[in-house]
Amino acid sequence: MRIVDCHNTADFRKLARKRLPAPLFHYMDGGSDDEITLRRNSEAFDSVRLIPDTLADLTGMHLGVNVLGQNIDWPVFCSPTAMTRLFHHEGEIAVARAAHKHGTMYSLSSLSTTSIEEIGAATPGPKCFQLYIHKDRGMSWEFIDRCKQSNFSAMCLTVDTLVAGNREKDLYTGMTIPPKFTLKSLASFASHPEWSLNYLFRRKFELANVANHIAEGSGKLTSVVGYMNSQFDRSITWKDAKEAIRRWGKPFAIKGVMSVEDARRAADIGASAIMISNHGGRQLDGSTAPFDQLEPIVDAVGDRLEVILDGGVRRGTHVLKALAMGAKACMVGRGYLYALAAGGYAGVDRALTRLCSEIERDMILMGCESIEKLDRSKLHRHIQSE
Ligand code: LAC
Repeated sequence: MRIVDCHNTADFRKLARKRLPAPLFHYMDGGSDDEITLRRNSEAFDSVRLIPDTLADLTGMHLGVNVLGQNIDWPVFCSPTAMTRLFHHEGEIAVARAAHKHGTMYSLSSLSTTSIEEIGAATPGPKCFQLYIHKDRGMSWEFIDRCKQSNFSAMCLTVDTLVAGNREKDLYTGMTIPPKFTLKSLASFASHPEWSLNYLFRRKFELANVANHIAEGSGKLTSVVGYMNSQFDRSITWKDAKEAIRRWGKPFAIKGVMSVEDARRAADIGASAIMISNHGGRQLDGSTAPFDQLEPIVDAVGDRLEVILDGGVRRGTHVLKALAMGAKACMVGRGYLYALAAGGYAGVDRALTRLCSEIERDMILMGCESIEKLDRSKLHRHIQSE
């Protein structure tokens, strides 16, 4: 299997599984506990169906939207994902460049393996920074200043990770961060020599944004769970989110909002957007899916801030359903990570090409020439459970 044989997210996932040692693949692919929420995130889209129109003049077809102050060419942008360079040595820069090529926005994680400054210099495209408020408040506020210096366009504060989710697959595979060639994982690294050689001989692993501040940024780290549990500040509240919004002063989203009440609170403190998200099913298992919460949240706050959907998007039709329900845009994380692991920049380039052309084809089949034409009249919502 090569990347030209990958036509959709599921294909890229298959190839990523072949290319990555098991601890890395399962860290990326897995969810928490029984992975009920991970599965539900995509399945939720099946709870509605699309109702197409025909013979609509589509000569003026365009897919662009304005989200977080950015005009993007199609209604999907890249979620922040931690430690992206572990999945392919081209890492965050490859994803940021591919996003720019495809006219969309890239989001950089606080826990990235490429720094804010490197991403700032790598692409002139729109960039969002994902903020975690660490116990070291000074460092968190410094991230905001660094993003201003590096010309980031928007910021999101992730609020669903005060403690790490229970990712049991990481325990079974012996996943450590940085990856270690232990007895448990050795066979899997040995059978993926290309990944292992790149890992050993290319740029050393580090959490590039925090490396100069805390020892966990480089040598001392052993697991992502350990990092989250020791570094993230559990005393943070809406007051801190408001302070982050004030310090940033540009488009700001709260990421990880799932309830209508929190969506209202985000609007009350002046957030420009919320990202409905359960962290890709990696945190609270048994929690509801972003798509399940979209309708009540849009109804409650859709006129006060932008509602962005993050979670479970694998197909163009998922995006159309979310937009018809009232989302402003969707985000994909695994949707590009599988492709990165499968083939670096070329993989992400192909994955974004495929997803964008799926959306365009679906829009034509729906008889919609622009995103504004998608509304709830295009959704059949009374599906009996089979
Ligand atoms: C994760 C965090 C770090 O592993 O985003 O889900």
